[in-house]
Amino acid sequence: MLVFAAATARFAPGAARVMGSARLMIDLVIKFFPMTVADEAQIEKLDERAFGPGRYARTAYRLREGVPPDLSLSFVARVGTLLVGANRMTPILVSSTPAMLLGPLTVEPAFRSQGVGEALVKHSLDAAREKGHGLVLLVGDDDYYARLGFSRVPRGKIIMPGPVDPDRLLFCELQPGAFDAASGKMRRA
Ligand SMILES: CC(C)(COP(=O)(O)OP(=O)(O)OC[C@H]1O[C@@H](n2cnc3c(N)ncnc32)[C@H](O)[C@@H]1OP(=O)(O)O)[C@@H](O)C(=O)NCCC(=O)NCCS
Repeated sequence: MLVFAAATARFAPGAARVMGSARLMIDLVIKFFPMTVADEAQIEKLDERAFGPGRYARTAYRLREGVPPDLSLSFVARVGTLLVGANRMTPILVSSTPAMLLGPLTVEPAFRSQGVGEALVKHSLDAAREKGHGLVLLVGDDDYYARLGFSRVPRGKIIMPGPVDPDRLLFCELQPGAFDAASGKMRRA
């Protein structure tokens, strides 16, 4: 069942395949769907290729351990049946204040720089806002996430429970006042 396919991105590799004298243009439509449990194996393979086995030692991964992602806020990108991108949203707590942790955000290398990553994040933020969530946090490059509405968390306001470059801890406020209300240590929900 196609649950959600608004905002599609078009991926045209540019090179036309030459078949004898005929030229076949490849024009692939990328569609976005809420994540399902059945997507898990394909997403794991994508994350393994992007981040390697060391990913499990990262502090953000440890915050997600044993906490299922909120599938209604997490999205995958597909070309036909091929999964080409994914983003998870996992509930966390900042002290006792609920928030969402965004990521891992991963796009298959051949499909990068087509807006897939940006669309996955936007779908997650829109869905979270609609559901009344106030605050989204992530660990990532502000060079990438600033255009999607994320800013650096001032040092010391929110503390990760393990080693993280503090300049990579970013937030996006979805409801006014939600960021002011959150301070202290991040922990599993
Ligand atoms: C980061 C990632 C998800 C972006 O996916 P994408 O579909 O290519 O993203 P978009 O098309 O929305 O944006 C692409 C642009 O962002 C830039 N970009 C990608 N990663 C970036 C980063 N870490 N910092 C700054 N810019 C970055 C690209 O160079 C590209 O720029 P261009 O449009 O000028 O070519 C993808 O590169 C990826 O899967 N990387 C490996 C996993 C990873 O690092 N995930 C993020 C963890 S926080």
